[in-house]
Amino acid sequence: MAKVAVVGPGAVGGTVAAELARVHEVLVCARTPFDRLEIETPDGLMVASPRMVCDVAKAEPVDWVLVATKAYDHASTALWMRALASPHTRFAILQNGVEHVERFAPYVEAASIVPVVVDCSASRTAPGRIRLRRAGSLVVPSSPSGKAFVGLFAATQVAVTTSTNFTTALFRKLCVNSVGAVPALLLKPGNIARIDAIADLMRELVRECITVGRKEGAELSDDLADVIVTNMQGAADDVMNSLHSDRARGLPMEVDARNGAIVRLGKKHAIATPMNQVMAALLEAVNVRD
Ligand SMILES: NC(=O)c1ccc[n+]([C@@H]2O[C@H](COP(=O)([O-])OP(=O)(O)OC[C@H]3O[C@@H](n4cnc5c(N)ncnc54)[C@H](OP(=O)(O)O)[C@@H]3O)[C@@H](O)[C@H]2O)c1
Repeated sequence: MAKVAVVGPGAVGGTVAAELARVHEVLVCARTPFDRLEIETPDGLMVASPRMVCDVAKAEPVDWVLVATKAYDHASTALWMRALASPHTRFAILQNGVEHVERFAPYVEAASIVPVVVDCSASRTAPGRIRLRRAGSLVVPSSPSGKAFVGLFAATQVAVTTSTNFTTALFRKLCVNSVGAVPALLLKPGNIARIDAIADLMRELVRECITVGRKEGAELSDDLADVIVTNMQGAADDVMNSLHSDRARGLPMEVDARNGAIVRLGKKHAIATPMNQVMAALLEAVNVRD
């Protein structure tokens, strides 16, 4: 049994905290308190009552810290990470984007960080209340820490795998996420991709991400843009990506970690990313609150 802290018990964090509480000593580090976790899953209701703290001063060192806040909340998350750290603590970052290590390296040892690609469809309906539409899976690098992370979930329902080409897993997800900017900007469902001009724009967003990803070492096939756009075209009317749903709820969007990251890495490699640049600029402008 390991001591595990989950920072950010939202859709992803709440789900993994409830799963891990079956087998480990789990401490939930929350900003907004709640009575217990209730996860509506496709197989029924899952309820868990792990110990919860809302005050960083009450945190104590643990074996694992799982970070599941939004990428833009990194500075307040770091306060928890430092308070929960011991020399052997490992930090798993369950967030979107490709800069998991860079984001938290200013706060904890880079070697103690385990980046995690999250694939699931979950949303928080109220503090501690989560709707899991599709069971999730997690991918980690095939490193000793990645393998230890897989072991942490051994007796749970969460599928965790290692990847020998983790960069590919990261960029494949970023390619999918890059097109979410369009429905978020238009406030329309993803199947707006059925309009030819929108499909072309989305393909271009993905192609820019593919070019940048390949420079970073990802193996991405030429047809990925078509595959992603075809999926969007077939999506139901009520499917909303997280940028769109955050905007609809008046919350900030993780634009910088998604389209912003493509632009940043494009600049690093002198690759033009004009479509992602436009999307990032427009959505960052929406993010600015008066
Ligand atoms: N949801 C999905 O299906 C999904 C799928 C793939 C990837 N992801 C990625 O996973 C990450 C988490 O997303 P999510 O959907 O789980 O977000 P979420 O539901 O908005 O949850 C974020 C949680 O972090 C908490 N939080 C923020 N700052 C905090 C702090 N300083 N201390 C403690 N808690 C703090 C929030 O608390 P409050 O209650 O106070 O707001 C909230 O409970 C994101 O990077 C997202 O892109 C999500």
